[in-house]
Amino acid sequence: MPALQKNFSLLPYNTFGIDAKAEWFFPVSSAEKLIEFLADNAFLKHQKRLILGGGSNVLFTSDVEGVVLYNQIKGIRVVAEDEKSVFVQAGAGEVWHELVLHCLEKNWGGIENLSLIPGSVGASPIQNIGAYGVELKDIFHSLEAIQLETGKRETFSHAACRFGYRDSIFKREAKGKYFICSVTLQLSKIHQLNTSYGAIQSELTEMGIQKPSIQDISRAVINIRQSKLPDPAVIGNGGSFFKNPVVESAHLQQLQQEFPNIPHYPQPDGRQKLAAGWLIEQAGWKGKRLGNHGVHDRQALVLVNYGGATGSEILDLAQKIQAAVSAAFDVQLETEVNIV
Ligand code: FAD
Ligand code: EPU
Repeated sequence: MPALQKNFSLLPYNTFGIDAKAEWFFPVSSAEKLIEFLADNAFLKHQKRLILGGGSNVLFTSDVEGVVLYNQIKGIRVVAEDEKSVFVQAGAGEVWHELVLHCLEKNWGGIENLSLIPGSVGASPIQNIGAYGVELKDIFHSLEAIQLETGKRETFSHAACRFGYRDSIFKREAKGKYFICSVTLQLSKIHQLNTSYGAIQSELTEMGIQKPSIQDISRAVINIRQSKLPDPAVIGNGGSFFKNPVVESAHLQQLQQEFPNIPHYPQPDGRQKLAAGWLIEQAGWKGKRLGNHGVHDRQALVLVNYGGATGSEILDLAQKIQAAVSAAFDVQLETEVNIV
């Protein structure tokens, strides 16, 4: 791929399939190339910058002003190991699921429940990716990043990332300030299986497996995901459009009077997480189609582009859903997808 390009179409670079253009587009193949680029391009200092990985958690609502830094930093290596653990450092431009497959082939555990999550390794800490009872924070060791203003390298420890549910420092104080170049995971050689979440156990039973390996759990998770979530290669989408909201327990009790079957998950701080997909379905939006975009018919948390929709149309739909859920349940849905 050539270096800096102008008026570059982002259509193949976002899973929503939005036809937006980047004013400038620069593929970053190494940390050194990025440092050089930041130092050499005086004009960049006054430009807006957007870091892009697999484009599976962004919604472009207009063309992108300034420069898109497209992460292409590759490489996977073991940096340390002992009898119990292996520390694996992956370039931020590696595809997340390919890293998962690599680890499973080596029989390194802890990552199997995070199979088939789209996107890059470098984006995984941004929202602390999670699925099927595991979050990145459970296997994360540290990351290396470049501060875009200074061009300096920095290491972030686990504590420094301040991980939360679909949250980290990179969505707050450090938003847009760092380019993550590599992520180091601590994986286990002695496996602790996590099969308690959702349909994993019943899927394993259906697969005829009584004593699962980490590879079996990965296959079960892949089967469940493929049965529920639309494949972005077929229908444009960004996964869950909203986060699952967390409410005070008194609020849940009120809702339970009217909706005794409302799904809810107790949180360590005493509050309760609700299922946004359930709220959206109850509000009547599941499977609704507005021309070329709509709400997925198997998972109401996923908004879809059937082809040719604009980001603004999808954002407009999202706002209607937020208003409907707020009116029905007095619950405010926050977007998970990054609106650009
Ligand atoms: P992008 O969409 O390219 O970027 C996302 C954000 O991270 C942007 O703000 C971007 O600026 C920033 N960013 C990206 N790379 C870097 C970097 N190197 N340094 C600094 N900032 C960076 N997520 C889950 O947690 N669990 C799921 O189960 C899940 N399922 C999904 C299913 C589908 C079908 C889809 C489409 C998405 C799903 N997602 C899920 C969301 C998505 O996979 C994750 O958010 C993923 O981490 C995004 O990676 P990306 O490389 O595509 O990031
Ligand atoms: N539900 C409905 N209707 C729907 C969808 C869901 O009633 O249309 C109900 C389900 O019946 C279930 C509950 O909502 O009782 C939870 O549903 P599910 O297990 O499908 O998970 P989710 O909460 O909708 C979350 C993550 C997903 C992740 C899965 C599995 C968020 C915002 N989403 O979805 O992550 O893969 O759990 O762990 O936390 C993503 O972040 O993009 C993503 C796909």
